[in-house]
Parts: sequence; structure tokens; C-alpha cells
Amino acid sequence: MIRISDITVRFGGVVALDSITAEISDDVIGIIGPNGAGKTTLINVLSGFVRPEAGSVDVDGLNLLTLTPFRRARWGLSRSFQKLQTAAELSVENLVRVGLDHCSSPNAEKDAAIGRALEFVGLSRLRNTKGGDLNSQQQRMTEIARCLVNSPRIVLLDEPGGGLGETEAEALRTIITDIRSSFGAQVLLIDHDVDLIRATCSKTIVLDFGKLIAFGPTETVLRDKMVQAAYLGQGPGQ
Ligand SMILES: Nc1ncnc2c1ncn2[C@@H]1O[C@H](COP(=O)(O)OP(=O)(O)OP(=O)(O)O)[C@@H](O)[C@H]1O
Ligand SMILES: [Mg+2]
Repeated sequence: MIRISDITVRFGGVVALDSITAEISDDVIGIIGPNGAGKTTLINVLSGFVRPEAGSVDVDGLNLLTLTPFRRARWGLSRSFQKLQTAAELSVENLVRVGLDHCSSPNAEKDAAIGRALEFVGLSRLRNTKGGDLNSQQQRMTEIARCLVNSPRIVLLDEPGGGLGETEAEALRTIITDIRSSFGAQVLLIDHDVDLIRATCSKTIVLDFGKLIAFGPTETVLRDKMVQAAYLGQGPGQ
């Protein structure tokens, strides 16, 4: 159970998150909302990239916000990034190895974890390919594999579906759905692809201008009038 309580983040005059509270016990939970709603900021707070001015994030009696980002990673928090910034000269294997930087386990164990994560996302045969030679789908999958190598407890995915075609999006659905059973981690998934959210998330949080305007079963949330209005012109559920 992840208990997010009263998280507030301000950037100058912008209230990026306005006293956000939510209890998350599901395997995969969605976070949706229009551009600038605060979705990435929420992931930044959880992973330690942004310090909120108020609030706590409690997991099994531990306030994650008291840990440095490094210790959060060691505790089992992984995140992917919305903007792809794949190092061109590193091999896929070494890009994934970055997810174990904080970890002191023996090399053989690390290699086994990398092999397993690569197989899970379907990148085994590209393990020696350089980052600069990957297409955007392969870069997204490399990001996900990096999030899975450290025996994660929570995986935060920031628009992993960005720029994927239909077949690739289908493969991504299976991958996200299987993370809990294969790796044991809870997943928080930000995406603008409502079909992906619908297919993978039992519950969904909706943010709009920093406020949580809905949180509940995904289908109910997507039918909510306030949610539809927030998305005017971007329309979830079409
Ligand atoms: N480091 C920052 N400095 C100043 N303002 C920021 C910073 N990060 C985010 N913001 C602002 O906070 C608000 C929330 O941004 P955030 O990136 O969390 O939105 P988002 O929901 O992830 O949007 P998108 O769907 O476009 O990725 C926006 O108004 C954004 O301009
Ligand atoms: Mg974002």
C-alpha cells in the first residue's frame, strides 16, 4: 500500500500539485490528465527529483520522502523518463546495468538480473546493440528493462507508450500487465494512450491543474463528466 498524503509542489506561481492524497493498493494504477496537469511532477516527488513543500508518501510504515533518491532506488523504487535520452555509445546491456548502479550484489547476479529483464521486454538479441542504433520503441523497452533489474517494489513509468505504433503498444500492454507477477512490483503508469490505461490499470488517478479531480475504477473515471471536461479537445475514452 502506497499512501500519498497532502503532497503540494509549487514552482513560483504555479501550483503543480495541490494537496494530493491517494491510497494505492492495486497492481497497476494509471495517472492521466491534460498536458501540464502535474503527472510527471508526482513521479518526480515519489522518486526524489522534486521536493514537495508539504506532505508524505508512506509505504509499509516508511515515509519515502525521508530517503535520498539513491536510497529510494536501493529500497526498490524505479522510474522511467518521459523524454528519451539514451546514451548513444552504451550497449543495451550497459544501459540496463545503470539500474543497478546503487546495488552492491555480485556481478554474476547483476548479469542474471539484466538477462532476465532484457528477455522480459523482448530485447535479448539486441543486448550488444549501441543506444544510438535503437529506434524509439527499443529505447522505451530499454528504459523499462532498466527499471526492472533492481528487484523493484514500485515502478513509475512516465509515458512509456509515447511514439509507439499499434503492434508495439499491444506488446507494451502485456509487459506492463505482467510486471507484478514476474517482478513483484506495483506499477504507476502515466500515459496519454487511454487504451493502454484501460487495458492495464484497475484504478486511475486524474490530475488537472495540479488537483486530483478523480480517483477510482478506470472505467468509472473515464466516464466521469469532470474528467471529460478536463480533457476537452484531448478526450479520454474516444
Ligand atoms: N522544474 C520546473 N520548474 C518550473 N515549472 C515546472 C517544473 N516542472 C514542471 N513545472 C510546471 O508544473 C506544471 C506540471 O508539469 P508536469 O510536467 O508535472 O505536467 P505533466 O502532467 O507531466 O504534463 P505532460 O503531459 O505535458 O507531460 C506545469 O505547469 C509545468 O510547466
Ligand atoms: Mg509529463
